[in-house]
Amino acid sequence: MTAAPDKLVVEDLSKRFESGDDGGAVVALAGAGLRVAPGEFVSIVGPSGCGKSTLFNIVAGLIRPTAGRVLLDGEEPRELLGRVGYMPQKDLLMPWRSVLDNVTLGLEMSGVGRRQARARAREELGRFGLEGFERRWPGDLSGGMRQRAALLRTFLAGRELMLLDEPFGALDALTRQAMQEWLLEIWQSDRKTILFITHDVEEAVYLSDRVYVMSGRPGSVQLCVEIDLPRPRGFELHGSPQFVALKQRLLTPLHEAARAQLEAQVVS
Ligand SMILES: Nc1ncnc2c1ncn2[C@@H]1O[C@H](COP(=O)(O)OP(=O)(O)OP(=O)(O)O)[C@@H](O)[C@H]1O
Ligand SMILES: [Mg+2]
Repeated sequence: MTAAPDKLVVEDLSKRFESGDDGGAVVALAGAGLRVAPGEFVSIVGPSGCGKSTLFNIVAGLIRPTAGRVLLDGEEPRELLGRVGYMPQKDLLMPWRSVLDNVTLGLEMSGVGRRQARARAREELGRFGLEGFERRWPGDLSGGMRQRAALLRTFLAGRELMLLDEPFGALDALTRQAMQEWLLEIWQSDRKTILFITHDVEEAVYLSDRVYVMSGRPGSVQLCVEIDLPRPRGFELHGSPQFVALKQRLLTPLHEAARAQLEAQVVS
């Protein structure tokens, strides 16, 4: 029997933007590669500006790479757009649509009728901690609830692979921890495949099966660490020697990459 192909393979991906921040060209990615097996939770950490969101935009089909390729289920799709679930770095809830109409947006855009989309969303509101808030505006929600609403919208789109770009980045530490535990429960019951960007090494270790560390810009993958901690994972894991050792293995190269990138920026 042959093993199932990886859900996602990113091969030697490069991206050059012809007009960057200061008008000159910016090489955002240079030969980045990674893989995610079906059902895995994989994270990417890397210094700010190293090309993480650019990599997601390419995998989601929003922009084209300058070189390299993206395989889904072992094949290179002619069109990536619409093939993966994507929660961008900014939650992008629309302030003029109710919570319910925000979370159904992805379904409606993929052609599901409004009534059916609403029925699907209502089934999930409880699990996403939004029961009773469906008629409220996004501005009425707490930071954690907004993120759960944006996650629900991504989940409802029904794709097997989901790209989550720093979903908890703006939350306070306590809310963040609660959200991590909640996300693991959702992931474990739904068996989705998740590729997750974070700046937070503890978050990456706590959640993931594997963590990729990217170099400073132009971003490539400089290290891959398997997180062989048992599941299900609970908060107490943070204090275990294994957890602390894994965190340290990631922190050292990340720290060096961030410093090297800063030095390059200061010199240029
Ligand atoms: N559409 C674009 N046009 C020009 N330059 C861009 C574009 N998108 C991103 N860049 C540049 O590419 C580089 C990588 O940006 P990207 O947003 O991918 O970084 P990131 O790793 O996600 O950073 P952060 O951790 O701060 O979110 C940056 O220098 C950014 O200015
Ligand atoms: Mg980003």
